Amino acid sequence: MLIDLLPWDSVAFGYPVGRVAWDHSPTSETVTALSVEARRKRLRLVYCSWPGKPDEKSKASKWFSYVGGHQCYAIRRRNFLSTKTEAKGISICLHPTAALRQLALASGRFSRFALDPNFQCNEFRTLYHRWLQRAFGKGREGICCVAGSANDPDGFLTLETANDMRHPVIGLLAVHERCRRTGTGSRLLDFARILSFHAGAAELMVKTQLDNKGGMAFYERNGFVPVSVQSVAHFWSEFS
Ligand SMILES: CC(C)(COP(=O)(O)OP(=O)(O)OC[C@H]1O[C@@H](n2cnc3c(N)ncnc32)[C@H](O)[C@@H]1OP(=O)(O)O)[C@@H](O)C(=O)NCCC(=O)NCCS
Repeated sequence: MLIDLLPWDSVAFGYPVGRVAWDHSPTSETVTALSVEARRKRLRLVYCSWPGKPDEKSKASKWFSYVGGHQCYAIRRRNFLSTKTEAKGISICLHPTAALRQLALASGRFSRFALDPNFQCNEFRTLYHRWLQRAFGKGREGICCVAGSANDPDGFLTLETANDMRHPVIGLLAVHERCRRTGTGSRLLDFARILSFHAGAAELMVKTQLDNKGGMAFYERNGFVPVSVQSVAHFWSEFS
């Protein structure tokens, strides 16, 4: 087993965090090996993932906290402009605002960082604010698209590009409650699709939590196709 150290998450949380990706659901042997390696590397938290929906045994495991599954979606380039794509009232925002920071937290309603009670140091807020910030860095790591005004946004979306617009991923997306089901989220997606098209991207990806039934219906309604499901658990080591 190889647990990768995650420097970005470790700095954000103030303790060592790692990640391991298995190719099958965990067995007791896998978890024992994980525990040994996490201790050796003195990691406090390890994100564990494996393909497919979780079985009941993993959900009930006392060795780690099962924190939900992810549905990964993609839309291919040929479909970027397929529908009556329009993005009226959407613009690129260059500076974060307090209102955007607030809305960033709404985008993580089903997040494992919000749901796992073992997080006790405001990690959810820290992470979502840092994720938002990435869309404003000098390093072109991402782009923030806003519906309405940045000081009182109807909604926003971040496009994570990691300096390469050929493989964009939707990071955060939320629509203010007062504007939901009025097409705001779809216009934000349209804007992201137009940006991706002009940047020459082959596909646009997004991940959402399996518990976010509304979010999944929204992406599917907007032409995104399910590509894979992943289960995620948090392993908390006694070292801290
Ligand atoms: C998911 C979200 C972004 C959708 O934004 P929105 O502006 O309300 O979406 P739209 O009005 O463009 O919806 C377009 C279509 O998507 C589907 N849809 C949207 N929200 C839905 C929901 N909660 N339940 C079922 N279908 C939904 C519908 O088919 C809808 O068309 P209709 O209203 O004519 O039935 C918004 O509900 C939200 O901010 N949720 C909280 C944060 C979140 O879940 N973000 C995504 C995580 S990655």
